Amino acid sequence: MSDTDLRRAAQFLSNARHVVVVSGAGISAESKIPTFRDAMTGLWASFDPQKLATPEAFDADPSTVTRWYDFRRMKCAEALPNPGHTALARLETLLNPHNGSVTILTQNVDGLHQRAGSRNVVELHGSIMTWRCTRTGREFHDLPAPFPDYPPKSPDGGLLRPAVVWFGEMLPPAALDAADKALRECDLFFSIGTSALVHPVAGFAGIASARNIPVIEINRDPTPLTPRADICLRGPSGELLPALLHAAFP
Ligand code: OAD
Repeated sequence: MSDTDLRRAAQFLSNARHVVVVSGAGISAESKIPTFRDAMTGLWASFDPQKLATPEAFDADPSTVTRWYDFRRMKCAEALPNPGHTALARLETLLNPHNGSVTILTQNVDGLHQRAGSRNVVELHGSIMTWRCTRTGREFHDLPAPFPDYPPKSPDGGLLRPAVVWFGEMLPPAALDAADKALRECDLFFSIGTSALVHPVAGFAGIASARNIPVIEINRDPTPLTPRADICLRGPSGELLPALLHAAFP
């Protein structure tokens, strides 16, 4: 990444009023939450997340699936927002007084954007802190950590499952509506810490580009979005986002 790229990105950001950010697991990596496609470590090294995050896996082995999600829920609860999350929350405080906005369309389920202070966060893949009864669909927050046994029993008589989107499940319609509105109104689009592989979210940058909205990727590694982005800042978002805000709003 060159200084020129950072300066160009800062120029776009200083002129923007309605920013959309798509974030993925990479923005939480510096908060010590494993990304989705990095190898699972320790206890879960032998499990393939792509196989555990499915309704079929839950039906076949609810104990293993809920134990894995509870392990991740605990890691998320222990984690702290990093300077990347904090920079996005600060951007919102800089734009709001000028009738600007920052809409974070996150694929993450860890709640760290909200804990960093961002107020306009759309959880496209749900939240690992919320669990849902398989019998009534009622959602529960503030649950015991860790669960006393697996699978956790629901007060409504069913089992409790994480209120996250599993492979093959639909994204929450309200979240998709909010994303659609933000994408139609934005004048700058960021893709941060995501491999840009999973649709429909991987298609959001194309919606912005089709409106001739500048697309900026901030990611540790190249992705399928890289060749189509207007600017690519390669590296850790926990360092690049603070540097970008400092350059845009000295
Ligand atoms: P991935 O694990 O697929 O991608 C994480 C991306 O973050 C990679 O491209 C890394 O290069 C990048 N990265 C890692 N550390 C970084 C850092 N410190 N700074 C910047 N970038 C960094 O995770 P996601 O793209 O979020 O969906 O995965 C998308 C979806 O795939 C997940 O939400 C999940 C999974 O299927 C569901 O569970 C429905």
